[in-house]
Amino acid sequence: MSVDWPGLRAAATAAASRAYAPYSGLRVGAAGQTSDGRIIVGCNVENASFGLTLCAECGLVSGLHASAPADQDASLEAVAVVAGDGEPLLPCGRCRQLLLEAGGGSLLVDTADGPVELKVLLPAAFTTTDLTQRRGAR
Ligand code: THU
Repeated sequence: MSVDWPGLRAAATAAASRAYAPYSGLRVGAAGQTSDGRIIVGCNVENASFGLTLCAECGLVSGLHASAPADQDASLEAVAVVAGDGEPLLPCGRCRQLLLEAGGGSLLVDTADGPVELKVLLPAAFTTTDLTQRRGAR
């Protein structure tokens, strides 16, 4: 499936403009293209209790699952994350892990130097395989 990277970045920029970031002042928007061609967005939402802050990617992943057609698996193929200036922002470590489960290692992530696969940004990741193969071991 082809990816309209300028369009995805524009959707992320529009989402960033709706961010709630009164504490850090850093607006972040995320836009993802699903495997069935839909565009999902999220923005960061901060809180007076700072540790409760939700990254833009959290909203994106929640929207991915919440909007999935009933008979379909929800997954991402491409993601653009930007700051309020519309330029790419690389996802934080926690969000790389969230995105991995939503799109796998071949998920394409927008960067200033072009799209890169998530497995490049998050090598040697912890995955569900670690859970299924090692749970219950002593
Ligand atoms: N932020 C995101 O939304 N995504 C990231 O990947 C990095 C950080 C937000 C969280 C917080 O509201 C602000 O940026 C400053 O850390």
